[in-house]
Amino acid sequence: MKETFYITTPIYYVNDVPHIGHAYTTIAADALARYHRMKGQKVFFLTGTDEHGEKVHKSAVQQGVSPKELADRVVTRFQGLTPALHITNDDFIRTSEQRHYASVQDLFRKSLAKGDIYLGAYEGWYCTPCESYWTDLQLADGNCPECRRPVEKRKEPSYFFRLSSYQRPLLDYYERNPAFIRPESRRNEVVSFVAGGLNDLSLSRTSLTWGIPVPGDPAHVIYVWYDALTNYITGVGYPAGGERFDTFWPADVHIVGKDILRFHAVFWPAFLLSAGVAPPLGVFAHGWWTVEGQKMSKSLGNVVDPYEMVATYGPDAFRYFLLREVPFGTDGDFSRKALVHRINSELANDFGNLLNRSLGMLGKYFSGTVPPQARPGEEERAMKAKAEDVLRAVDGAMEELELHRALSAIWELVKAGNKYVDSTAPWTLAKDPARRERLGTVLYTVLETARICVLLSAPFVPVAAQNMWEALGCEGAVEKAVLSTAGRWGGLSEGATLARSAVVFPRIEE
Ligand code: MSP
Repeated sequence: MKETFYITTPIYYVNDVPHIGHAYTTIAADALARYHRMKGQKVFFLTGTDEHGEKVHKSAVQQGVSPKELADRVVTRFQGLTPALHITNDDFIRTSEQRHYASVQDLFRKSLAKGDIYLGAYEGWYCTPCESYWTDLQLADGNCPECRRPVEKRKEPSYFFRLSSYQRPLLDYYERNPAFIRPESRRNEVVSFVAGGLNDLSLSRTSLTWGIPVPGDPAHVIYVWYDALTNYITGVGYPAGGERFDTFWPADVHIVGKDILRFHAVFWPAFLLSAGVAPPLGVFAHGWWTVEGQKMSKSLGNVVDPYEMVATYGPDAFRYFLLREVPFGTDGDFSRKALVHRINSELANDFGNLLNRSLGMLGKYFSGTVPPQARPGEEERAMKAKAEDVLRAVDGAMEELELHRALSAIWELVKAGNKYVDSTAPWTLAKDPARRERLGTVLYTVLETARICVLLSAPFVPVAAQNMWEALGCEGAVEKAVLSTAGRWGGLSEGATLARSAVVFPRIEE
């Protein structure tokens, strides 16, 4: 096993407040970061905000504030997601920070020195009110696709990146690293895009001032995507380098939405190869959410606010739903009905019940004191084997970034635990004093099964998992437990006295 794991989210534009799409990427990355910490790896998890460029500039102008003022205001909404959603990012980067300027300019200088960046002219259709360039293809009946006003052909000096020289190196990189782009279907898209030929890329603007100046030519600001992508190395200490950089770079995986895969899988490795910095090891593209069957948009008024979700359903339920409802990598639909249904049936009924019915019986039959495993029989050996299978299945799924598959494996164990209770019928055993030892074995087995479910669920439902962990008499923070030891069957302490119930996943009225 690799000793380190570096995972990132995209950095979010501060032109608007966070919605479910942003929360989704961050939650998925958080579950992965948490899981890898529980494997005993040294993890670095980075998120942040993308504050430069036209989008943010425009939005600031509309609101009558400076871009920096807008960024300072909106960034708090993104930073607030960390406590609200129980995110465990190790740093939060803002592209307006000094450390980032130094990083972007250094990377730029390296490619300039190599001859991969040259001064040319950018030509396109310019919309003056929108301060934007458009290509022929983007125009709407010859007009600006945004405001529908006429556009004019304009030319401005611009630095270009020799992306065309990187077609071969990129294709080689994809070939040598078959897991670089995931899921597989996305990989094929990118490979055929690159195989189709690459044009050089305009990397600077003189028509915009809100950005990082080109080193040595401050009339230009650097293209926002070049600036934004570089955050991933700034966050671990580029350009100074040092221990953090050496430990964590190249990143293991950038989690991104499918719409921004090309930037990450084509441009970013090319920029890095040119500057002599190792490209990341992986990029994973997830799908998009619609809301109640419709595209999410401000004009439809159906934007899902993550803060509202947490206030209504709690962080665990929201996290669980997003990661369980759709396979990671495909599109999905968000609906309150589906959310409530999953909370009630999978969290409250299946999982909450497994724990509470076993704690209840332990209280009733053993005054809450965990009995010894005594004499495990065939059914108990089967439960232990099932738990071991599930631990392996979860690991395989998490390594493949198949979060939904990890959750469904955990729930198989939850269900197996409930079934075991039904078939061993402790309430019947309790009636016969001669079968007391057997009753003890059964309760130990079901509580131990619950413990392993709790352990495995901690990356997904961290708050409830901690409560359940404590209810089971386990010490310390579950997030600090290491799977290779804590996942071993028999971790539940014999003789410990447990609570009779735990508040875990409250049911929601439909
Ligand atoms: N700033 C760039 C990223 C730079 S990364 C070097 C950006 N920001 S964004 O705020 O517009 O979007 C961030 C992420 O949110 C993207 O990964 C995007 O896919 C995701 N989503 C935006 N809407 C979404 C949904 N409706 N559903 C799921 N994810 C969505 O792009």
